[in-house]
Amino acid sequence: MTTPAKRGIELLQDPSLNKSTAFTEAEKGALGLTGLVPDVTESEDLQLQRVMLQLAQQPTDLERYIYLINLLDHNEALFYRTVMSDPARFLPIVYDPTIGEACLKFGHIYRQPRGMYLSMARRGKVKEILKNWPEKDVRFICVTDGGRILGLGDLGANGIGIPIGKLQLYTACAGVPPQYLLPMYLDAGTNNEQYLHDPLYLGMRKTRPATKDLYSFVDEFMEAVQEVFPKCCVHFEDWTGVDAVHLLQRYRDKYCVYNDDVQGTAGIVLAGMLNAAKIKDTKLSDEKILFFGAGSAAIGLAGLLCSAMVAEGLTLTEAQARISMFDINGLLEPTRTDLVDFQKPYAHKHVPTRDFVAAIESIKPTTIIGVSTVGGTFTKKVVETMSRLNARPVILALSNPTEHAECTPEQAYTWSNGKAIYAAGVQFPPVHLNGQTFLPGQANNFYIFPAVGMAVFATQASRVTDEMFIEAARAVADQVPSDLLKQGLLYPLQSNILETEIQTAARIAKLVFDSDLARVERPRDFVSFIREHVYKPKYKSELPVATKGQAA
Ligand code: NAI
Repeated sequence: MTTPAKRGIELLQDPSLNKSTAFTEAEKGALGLTGLVPDVTESEDLQLQRVMLQLAQQPTDLERYIYLINLLDHNEALFYRTVMSDPARFLPIVYDPTIGEACLKFGHIYRQPRGMYLSMARRGKVKEILKNWPEKDVRFICVTDGGRILGLGDLGANGIGIPIGKLQLYTACAGVPPQYLLPMYLDAGTNNEQYLHDPLYLGMRKTRPATKDLYSFVDEFMEAVQEVFPKCCVHFEDWTGVDAVHLLQRYRDKYCVYNDDVQGTAGIVLAGMLNAAKIKDTKLSDEKILFFGAGSAAIGLAGLLCSAMVAEGLTLTEAQARISMFDINGLLEPTRTDLVDFQKPYAHKHVPTRDFVAAIESIKPTTIIGVSTVGGTFTKKVVETMSRLNARPVILALSNPTEHAECTPEQAYTWSNGKAIYAAGVQFPPVHLNGQTFLPGQANNFYIFPAVGMAVFATQASRVTDEMFIEAARAVADQVPSDLLKQGLLYPLQSNILETEIQTAARIAKLVFDSDLARVERPRDFVSFIREHVYKPKYKSELPVATKGQAA
């Protein structure tokens, strides 16, 4: 005979089991719920209708975010059902751009814990602390130290909102089951004066340590993860640029690990560049690219673009010669004394300049890519210069949140007289200009990392490689129909994102098997294989039961 594993209030308080007003009469009787929930049995559709009604009553997106997180704390299936019912509407609420505001105010809007907090004060005990997490088979940890949150800078402990949101996208966009996902904040202090003095700040009140101390703490964390969660992939997110690149170099050949700012950004921009080349009827290796910003996003992207150009037949040196970078101190060139090792391949001989327009005039790029965190920096003069030099200038203004975009689509299309091929890091509405409708794409990593995550989850891949991101980029690019490409759309529509990511994950999964990195048996059909792993936002028809003698 069997008895239920959880009953009564305990069951209602478990978001992964709670059905709220959808428990049947039989379940109420068997599970000690009679009288604890209203005397109705509602369908999942009716519950969704109530959520939509309550969401409509919230005055701002931040309030809608708080409402949805509260829903997730009580009823996981209903939360995902809501978000997956209309991704184009809800992704900007659970993630960019609302998440930026949520992070800024995280200590103030905090309701209850989600994910894990691990501070440097716990050095030497990391393994024991990881064991406190209730799920034993964790497959993904998304970890930040809050060092560079979106384009907002050092937000310390408030940055935990990012791993929480990123992992929700694994499920909402690609169907990775939520029980395998663990958001993590590694607390190494913060240099944010405002938070250090805010009584409601939730992190350690210390300034950041020396790099070698930080890295030795991260080493302990990475080693502990291998022991406690041996099938886990660690996703680094929103560390400062130098730490992001160095930590990836430190671990990529040793553990299953990737950095979304470096590799995911690169993947999504590569997808956009492949489609821009299709629009222009050229090849990627014909492009000459000038980055505005030379941090983690730029470096990751340049590396992946080079790999893709090499695949088209260039040597690595030829590919690197097609990429230049401009940062807060001007154009990267060999006489600069402040360059980090990984920036040097893109520092080509040139007179020193701090004038971006002058750099465009002399380098004559076909594409400019904004990853500077600074809004409004692609001025009218920048766009006009690009349009004078190119029949179809490619202008990617990727910094986020919204007000950090280097220029808006309206500006890009207006100032270029409709010639620009444009994408941003956040979603902007269509632009109507001179009787034409332009569809600005959103170069958001959420087309890439959830699909990579799903492929890694399904194949139990032992490593995450750059080739997997290149394949993801090709798969995403291939899914934009030609009529939408003609309207300038570089990325697939968000309304169908789950299907797009299933197709993408299937192509990555095939590559994982072809590269001998899979730890499960090779399937015959990769799309069906991925579909078998996809989480459905539905209640369990039969609640888990324990055999007699187990906790009732
Ligand atoms: P980072 O902090 O590593 O690098 C920022 C770079 O911009 C540095 O090289 C810095 O010198 C340069 N910079 C800052 N102010 C500048 C100025 N006034 N003029 C010229 N250069 C300037 O940051 P990371 O990780 O590279 O991210 C940059 C931006 O890209 C962020 O806003 C981030 O949100 C965005 N991003 C967008 C993604 C997407 O849309 N798919 C993905 C990842 C990042």
